[in-house]
Amino acid sequence: MSKDRFQGKIVLVTGGNSGIGLAAAQGFAQEGARVAIAGRDPQTLKAALASLPGDALAIQADVARLSDLDRVIGDVVQAAGRIDALFVNAGIGFFAPIEASDEDLFDRQFAVNVKGAYFTIQKALPHMQPGSAIVINASSVVGMGLPNSSVYTATKAAIASLARSLALELAPRGIRLNVVNPGPTETPIFDRMGLDPEAAKGMTAQITASVPLQRFGSPDEIARAVLFLASDEASFVHGAALSVDGGLTAL
Ligand SMILES: NC(=O)c1ccc[n+]([C@@H]2O[C@H](COP(=O)([O-])OP(=O)(O)OC[C@H]3O[C@@H](n4cnc5c(N)ncnc54)[C@H](OP(=O)(O)O)[C@@H]3O)[C@@H](O)[C@H]2O)c1
Repeated sequence: MSKDRFQGKIVLVTGGNSGIGLAAAQGFAQEGARVAIAGRDPQTLKAALASLPGDALAIQADVARLSDLDRVIGDVVQAAGRIDALFVNAGIGFFAPIEASDEDLFDRQFAVNVKGAYFTIQKALPHMQPGSAIVINASSVVGMGLPNSSVYTATKAAIASLARSLALELAPRGIRLNVVNPGPTETPIFDRMGLDPEAAKGMTAQITASVPLQRFGSPDEIARAVLFLASDEASFVHGAALSVDGGLTAL
């Protein structure tokens, strides 16, 4: 595989300080990109920045706040002049049955996973030239029903739907847009759900059993698909959704 697909490119990864976003940011940087990452947690941002080769940038921001997004894009453009590839990855997930879901759980997930993703793209677009690429991180859940996660799955279905329309809008501008749909992937997202250890263990076992390959994916395995979609190797791939899920959605 070519190791310099992103030489001279400017890449922005939201949620680049953890999990899939961090693996992708590292992959982009290892292949020559100048990478900017955005996230909320200053400690993981600092650690992630230290792990990135090249002249990387880390920007503390909440993607649910439009003023923060203006600052993120402004900082990247000031430092690098443009954005060649955008990985719209920042996301949260809280699983709860409908009786236990409240307005805050609903609003927070839509604010980050849908509103944040949408306006990240809107604000980056003026700085993206023909030939640049956008990859959105949705999920294997986009076409599935999943008990106790109706709000999370709805946010992912919403962004997948936005992606199809945006792909058509952006085609005349020569900007490719695609979606990656990861299956269960070993990242801190599961630790953030607030499940007690016994419930978390049960959920992990249940998920593992449901995946044809009988395991979780690694962040690197998802990142490799993201890099492909963002690279010129995927020059005729547009409006597509690439499943990287151990066969989950083949069932
Ligand atoms: N892991 C899976 O099984 C799986 C499967 C399918 C899809 N996905 C999707 O993959 C994406 C990445 O998740 P992950 O699994 O890598 O989880 P993760 O390790 O928890 O990473 C989530 C990232 O999003 C950032 N983020 C969350 N809310 C944010 C906000 N309001 N503003 C800015 N950044 C924010 C986090 O930064 P802070 O820590 O600084 O908040 C973190 O960098 C998400 O969209 C998720 O839905 C994950």
